Amino acid sequence: MSDFDLVIKGGTVVTASDTFRSDIAIKEGEIAALGHNLGSANREIDADGMLVLPGGIDAHCHIEQESSTKLMTADDFYSGSVSAAFGGNTTFIPFAAQHRGQSLRDVVKTAHDRAGPKSVIDFAFHLIISDPTENVLGQELPALIMEGYSSFKVYMTYEMLKIDDHQMLDVLSLARRYGAMTMVHAENNDVINWLSERLVTRGYTAPKYHAVSHNPIAESEASRRAIDLARLADAKLLIVHVSAPEAAHAILNARNQGLPIYGETCPQYLFLTADDLDRDGMEGAKFCCSPPPRDKAGQEAIWRGLTNGTFQVFSSDHAPYRYDETGKFSAGPNPTFKKIANGVPGIETRMPLLFSEGVGKGRLSLNEFVALTSTNAAKIYGLHPRKGAIAIGSDADIAIWDPNWKRTISQSMIHDNMDYTPYEGMEVTGWPRTVINQGRIVIEDETLQVERGSGQFLERKTETPTPAAPSDDAPLGPRYTFGADLM
Ligand code: URP
Ligand code: ZN
Ligand code: ZN
Repeated sequence: MSDFDLVIKGGTVVTASDTFRSDIAIKEGEIAALGHNLGSANREIDADGMLVLPGGIDAHCHIEQESSTKLMTADDFYSGSVSAAFGGNTTFIPFAAQHRGQSLRDVVKTAHDRAGPKSVIDFAFHLIISDPTENVLGQELPALIMEGYSSFKVYMTYEMLKIDDHQMLDVLSLARRYGAMTMVHAENNDVINWLSERLVTRGYTAPKYHAVSHNPIAESEASRRAIDLARLADAKLLIVHVSAPEAAHAILNARNQGLPIYGETCPQYLFLTADDLDRDGMEGAKFCCSPPPRDKAGQEAIWRGLTNGTFQVFSSDHAPYRYDETGKFSAGPNPTFKKIANGVPGIETRMPLLFSEGVGKGRLSLNEFVALTSTNAAKIYGLHPRKGAIAIGSDADIAIWDPNWKRTISQSMIHDNMDYTPYEGMEVTGWPRTVINQGRIVIEDETLQVERGSGQFLERKTETPTPAAPSDDAPLGPRYTFGADLM
């Protein structure tokens, strides 16, 4: 009988902190040993010349999710997870989205019914809270947090999803009490509506005006407000899909004050610009997402944010709506920018794009790449050290990465259920050859190797709430100014 199920030999292991030569032995789905001459195995993989990374964690993606206008994403949990796996991911965290009037319990059950039989990689759920009723805040949400749904997203825009500041304070203070993470889509709804009305009444309805109506000020104002509300509630907060430099500055400024504010950005803000929304005819619809891509200077500011402490998490925000009547044109063939479904796909290209343009072009170290694409998300969302680590006892979630594999991105090689990729024609160097989840080889020889439904649901931990230590220059939350009983 062999000592191990699998040994990965001769590769260079990269974690968020270290880079070293080591073999990895796997037994019963976990990493059992690191070193050399580890013993016999049922199967060996030669990783000579390869980087051996923790499997990616895509912490923001919309899979088999209905929008507030009842539009279903093009990917279900099968196509979405297969595409994620081909891009080096072993875990993803889509949303169980509450629409107004719905019970959170029902929403979570539906998400499980959809994901369990289909996902080929491990999964957890963030909740979306659009209707924080007394029952949601008093019963459902506390119970769900304790059952492992320890993060939830709230919206400051979108008519049917947004909550007001009063409701946001309710959510934040509950999150504070239970050690959960609030994620926020920070854009000022009134600013967007005010600009949109002016544009549409003057006949400016083409896709490019989506970017005009979602002015960076809408994003920076809402980001600063969200940070202030989190300060008031003494709660941690993660601002998702940041695109505007001023919003990034607000996050960095808060973090420099010692506040538990976190930031996420996405490929669309590094590799696309508002000019993409101005492509011929209605092509610009392919690039309509919120917040929208900005300009070249904005891209550079977002790149800087990946290394200067602004952003901890790099997610895809994969929101797949096809370039047809089931997606972008569900409101008709020639919609105004207001009626184009928001979102871009990118779950498979997230890691290769960042590797190629980040590590390959000297903007990021290998360790920063691992932190941004895996380890930090595991830590922030209560999955570490089970996920996001190459360590004895961690799940054997590994991407064996070929740093020299040159590929030209085209939709024909992507495994999602979309009919376009925003990154068509981009040349990238570096892509995973083999992807392993809990010791199961999911991708090998450019082929899916596992059955649908073989991924597992992950319950996530909460953090024991610890108040930020008061110091001379740290702003005090109400726990200190009014007393804990107020919260
Ligand atoms: O445009 C986007 N990002 N659509 C997806 C939904 C969201 O707000 O993340
Ligand atoms: Zn959002
Ligand atoms: Zn999103």
